[in-house]
Amino acid sequence: MAARCLLRALPLLAALWQGVARGNQELRPPPARIGVIGAGVGGTSAAYFLRQKFGKDIQIDIFERGEVGGRAATINLEGKSYEAGGSVIHPLNLHMKHFVKELGLNVHQSQGGLLGIYNGDEFVFEESSWYIWNFLKLLWHYGLNPVRMYMWVEDVLDKFMRIYRYQVYDYAFSSNEGLLHALGGADFVQMLNVTIDEAMQKTSFSQKFINEMVTPVMRVNYGQGANINSFVGAVSLAGADSGLWSVEGGNKLVCTGLLYASKAQLISGTVIALEEKTLKRGRLGDTAKLYEVTYNSTSGLMSELYDIILIATPLQRKIANITFRNFKPPIPEFSQPYHQTVATFVHGRINTSYFGYQDPSKFSLTAIFTMEHPKLFINCIGIVSPVEDKTKPLLSPAVWKVFSPKPLTKEQLNLLFSSYDSVEVKTWLAYPHYSPPEKCPPIILHDRMYYLNGIEWAASAMEMSAIAAKNAALLAYHRWYDKADMIDQEDLHERLKTEL
Ligand SMILES: Cc1cc2nc3c(=O)[nH]c(=O)nc-3n(C[C@H](O)[C@H](O)[C@H](O)COP(=O)(O)OP(=O)(O)OC[C@H]3O[C@@H](n4cnc5c(N)ncnc54)[C@H](O)[C@@H]3O)c2cc1C
Ligand SMILES: *[C@@H]1O[C@H](CO)[C@@H](O)[C@H](O)[C@H]1NC(C)=O
Ligand SMILES: *[C@@H]1O[C@H](CO)[C@@H](O)[C@H](O)[C@H]1NC(C)=O
Ligand SMILES: *[C@@H]1O[C@H](CO)[C@@H](O)[C@H](O)[C@H]1NC(C)=O
Ligand SMILES: *[C@@H]1O[C@H](CO)[C@@H](O)[C@H](O)[C@H]1NC(C)=O
Repeated sequence: MAARCLLRALPLLAALWQGVARGNQELRPPPARIGVIGAGVGGTSAAYFLRQKFGKDIQIDIFERGEVGGRAATINLEGKSYEAGGSVIHPLNLHMKHFVKELGLNVHQSQGGLLGIYNGDEFVFEESSWYIWNFLKLLWHYGLNPVRMYMWVEDVLDKFMRIYRYQVYDYAFSSNEGLLHALGGADFVQMLNVTIDEAMQKTSFSQKFINEMVTPVMRVNYGQGANINSFVGAVSLAGADSGLWSVEGGNKLVCTGLLYASKAQLISGTVIALEEKTLKRGRLGDTAKLYEVTYNSTSGLMSELYDIILIATPLQRKIANITFRNFKPPIPEFSQPYHQTVATFVHGRINTSYFGYQDPSKFSLTAIFTMEHPKLFINCIGIVSPVEDKTKPLLSPAVWKVFSPKPLTKEQLNLLFSSYDSVEVKTWLAYPHYSPPEKCPPIILHDRMYYLNGIEWAASAMEMSAIAAKNAALLAYHRWYDKADMIDQEDLHERLKTEL
């Protein structure tokens, strides 16, 4: 009798021992299924990192109502594809860099054309093909402001880079503000509460420099002026660095590649609702808490159950419109608006006289940034080359990409172009409409339900989505296995200095 009891207990003892030997983590069985909502950079990289952490046996499903890639998307014009959303990547965006290497994708370096800055009446700055001349002109116009700006951005970037070290060591953060604090302390969090204009004025940059150089860059990257928060402002200025790159064939190839590499299952459909369900399972009647995802697909309304949910799309009625049913306390509404930016692609000849050049042959600019001016209906206009072959853009007629807050009217197109044939338009709810002081939405929406896109309120970029994805995957893992010592640790920067 006693022997039989012991025999029966043996497997249990063995399992316990294994659990202890493996550092406790196996005591709790792994999740069976994880659901990810959205197949942009955030969702697909989340699937990739979830697979890394949770291993090969769990099922990962990704819901997508549109195209894989999300805001990394291309548009077709006369048989060629052009980046219509997220287009350039910084050389120090290490997750994106790692993905292209891992996936065997090729990259293109951005071609530096000639830039002009237009104030609505005339150019306040024009690059020439003579590098030294540009440098002297910058000095003449703005003194040391450009150099100081470079150093200011480098300093922010240096601190920002700490995230990669934390993530290599598997540390996670339970809030976006906590993540920022771990990178640059209270100063970093405070950056969300001041505009880039205020921050730069305080550091005694000249107003002329801010208006003529900083604001135009903000308008290109975020469709808004120097009143956006200074963190996204710094990210935006870093986006004016040299060495920017993009993926041959389109940045969205990163997403299709990650989807494949993660062996996640893509479910085409629109997620409509999320609800927590308590289910009885097993003979002993023990219960399991699962999340039910209700989605609309070509075969009608369906639902699936998951242990863990990651939401990788902005939770905004106009974007994702997901209803959280019966949560107590209720999941809050995130009603802050997203900013509309319209990308218009035109194959044609630019109307140089609109920009004050009566003689088109004297005009050699390939990109025009703009300052704030009531009569200006565009944020910027520039020549782009197709994602397949970035080496030689056509010069005239060229393919121009225009960013504007509203769709361009026929009259506006006729002002901007002296002649054109094809036009393609993509209207985006592109990135948050920033208005500091900013508060990022939470990462943990419920016990095992995580939200990635709150980080966009600090700054929206493909790399930011990848960082949020890795953080959410690590957070989900550590919380599942109760590894509190891997979450929200203080002084990581100091502590990891001594690790090799
Ligand atoms: C015009 C423009 C220019 C930009 N330029 C740059 C740039 O140069 N460099 C840079 O780094 N970043 C840039 N960005 C920002 C960058 O594109 C985004 O920050 C990034 O792609 C966001 O990725 P994500 O996965 O978090 O979100 P998304 O790419 O938006 O992915 C969310 C996905 O969820 C899906 N979805 C939404 N709701 C549901 C639902 N209910 N059910 C199922 N699926 C749903 C959507 O269809 C979408 O595919 C730009 C963005 C725009 C619009
Ligand atoms: C920033 O502003 C938000 C919202 O007003 C506020 O909750 C937060 O405490 C402020 N943070 C700092 C560091 O001042
Ligand atoms: C589901 O999709 C179909 C077809 O697109 C649409 O007609 C229907 O209204 C949708 N249902 C819900 C509940 O959104
Ligand atoms: C969001 O979905 C609900 C139904 O689920 C619908 O009543 C509402 O109109 C939708 N809102 C928007 C902005 O689409
Ligand atoms: C070009 O711009 C000028 C100046 O704004 C304008 O008068 C003209 O109508 C525009 N269109 C063409 C086709 O030249």
